Amino acid sequence: MTPADLDLRQYAVQGLVQQAGFLALDYFNKSESLGVTMKGAQDWLTVADGAVEDFLRQRLAVMFPQDAIIGEEGGGEASDAVWIIDPIDGTSNFARGDRNWCISIGFLLNGVPEIGILSAPALGEIYVGRKGRGATLNGEAIKVSGQTDIKRAYVELGWSTRIPAERYVAMIGRGYAAGASVKRGGSGALGLAHVANGRTEAYAELHINAWDVAAGVVIAAEAGAYVSDFFSGDGIAKGNPILCCTPGLRRELEQVTQIGSQQAND
Ligand code: IPD
Ligand code: CA
Repeated sequence: MTPADLDLRQYAVQGLVQQAGFLALDYFNKSESLGVTMKGAQDWLTVADGAVEDFLRQRLAVMFPQDAIIGEEGGGEASDAVWIIDPIDGTSNFARGDRNWCISIGFLLNGVPEIGILSAPALGEIYVGRKGRGATLNGEAIKVSGQTDIKRAYVELGWSTRIPAERYVAMIGRGYAAGASVKRGGSGALGLAHVANGRTEAYAELHINAWDVAAGVVIAAEAGAYVSDFFSGDGIAKGNPILCCTPGLRRELEQVTQIGSQQAND
């Protein structure tokens, strides 16, 4: 695949994600039609998740029929050229009327994340990352905060029921003990984007799935963040821990999260 082939994919999908954003926003604004159900404890699903994923799958299949597609709702298998879709990341926010949610699409070539696009339509924000070409928010270049003092750091620690609560609580405890301010925003994809634009210093989660991070890792890395090697091993199929942070805090945050030097889901 040539750089021109990647250009074509990037620009086509930037347009597609904007259309998907209108679709998702229409559901968000008509809360009575959201059709909220639960996939499991604290695991939310709405009609919009399926509708947005179907829309993206159909369009991608027409535009790039040779590419594979993996989606949070519909699954799929990886190949050399694969799109990884989260139709609504931050579904628990979406279902409750909180605007902190996004549509996430990443493209991997031979296992390497090349393109990442996040649209947060309720916030009016579109993030784009392209390997080797930088990261933008609404067309303007973004970069990490550059903070080096953890006592001034704002750190987001993602959570799901996939990890025992004690391990999550212990990580939060180490974060506060180190002097960080800790939060959880409910969208792992936007958590990575917020490291990229310096709204936070770090995003970490002890286990997260590929669709949550496939776009955000490109955006954050291109904005200058350290990003742990999420796609090592069987990350695409089974997920992995992730640590993403402004580089000057990497060592301290590896201690806090126990992600990186010592993998936290061992
Ligand atoms: C979840 C969110 C959450 C993260 C979880 C994800 P969903 O995705 O990104 O912030 O902590 O690991 O599963 O359910 O909102 O698509
Ligand atoms: Ca998700």
